[in-house]
Amino acid sequence: MTVDQTELRPRERSCTAVAGTNIALCKYWGKRDAALNLPATGSLSLTLAEMGTRTTVRFGGVSGGDRVRLGGAPADQRFAFRVSQFLDVVRKQAGISDAAEVVTENSVPTAAGLASSASGFAALALAASRAAGLMLAPPALSGLARLGSGSAARSIFGGFVEMARGERADGGDAVAHVIDDAGAWDLRMVVAVTATGPKPLGSTAAMERTARTSPFYAAWVTGCDADLADARAAIAARDLDALGRVAERSALRMHATALAADPAIVYWNGATLAAMNTVLELRAQKVAAYFTIDAGPHVKVLCAAADAARVAEALAATPGVQRTVVASPGPGARVIEQG
Ligand code: DP6
Repeated sequence: MTVDQTELRPRERSCTAVAGTNIALCKYWGKRDAALNLPATGSLSLTLAEMGTRTTVRFGGVSGGDRVRLGGAPADQRFAFRVSQFLDVVRKQAGISDAAEVVTENSVPTAAGLASSASGFAALALAASRAAGLMLAPPALSGLARLGSGSAARSIFGGFVEMARGERADGGDAVAHVIDDAGAWDLRMVVAVTATGPKPLGSTAAMERTARTSPFYAAWVTGCDADLADARAAIAARDLDALGRVAERSALRMHATALAADPAIVYWNGATLAAMNTVLELRAQKVAAYFTIDAGPHVKVLCAAADAARVAEALAATPGVQRTVVASPGPGARVIEQG
């Protein structure tokens, strides 16, 4: 007797996945194709263990469209729409049409402005694709996550991860890969929270405005390959000083190009500058600590594990710093439960 496999498939399929956020040491800032979310340059990051997202996706048994919950409450319309659009891509690839229930939690409070689309779309890509019956290989999963958010492509992997700019028009080669699992290198990223509430301008809009109006944008793009080469060499040599110097240079150049946009994009506040100054003072005292800053006012400081407590203490004592979080290198996105 032959059995029709489709009849045996449960009507509801769910998957829970987790992903750590990642902090770019060579920043992604600008796109070569907005529709496919293809980056204008490569980027390089460190995935973190303690800060991330846990997401459950259940297809089937949901009536009246996708239902999205974030941090225990219905998600706001903008976020829910972005998730639904992403689910449409997964549904198309899987050949299904079911609505989904998505329940997502960030391990740092969303209100701190640290909740990251990187860990969010990495966890969603893994949970949604598995719940839809797709078994994607890591590079394909990275490409899928990229459609949600460029930085999410990197959070599919753990340790030091490089995202390729790619050359192909269809984006098939714009995926991330591990360059080093960071295993034998005891590093920490100390995050100084300098504000509460969402950032004034999201990265997508800010990148678009920067590329369109900043006279420094072309120079930024041109300089990225050299930063990537220096970062790769520093990681291979386990040279924290060299890696930290590239990270600061990349962050400052990214912000310089955004500051020169019209209207200007200013993510920093007074505490951002004070925290940067604290890092410079630590260095003057021979502590190897290096800052990086993303599309917001918080300052993230790379240092050796042995110096993390001292760095956190100095940042906590900096005027305007509300709290600090110490995070270590972490693994890539993974499935926790599948039903
Ligand atoms: C400053 O990945 O949030 O954090 O692809 O438009 O969703 P979209 O942008 P997003 O940008 C991240 C920008 C950054 C630098 C980085 O993580 O590389």
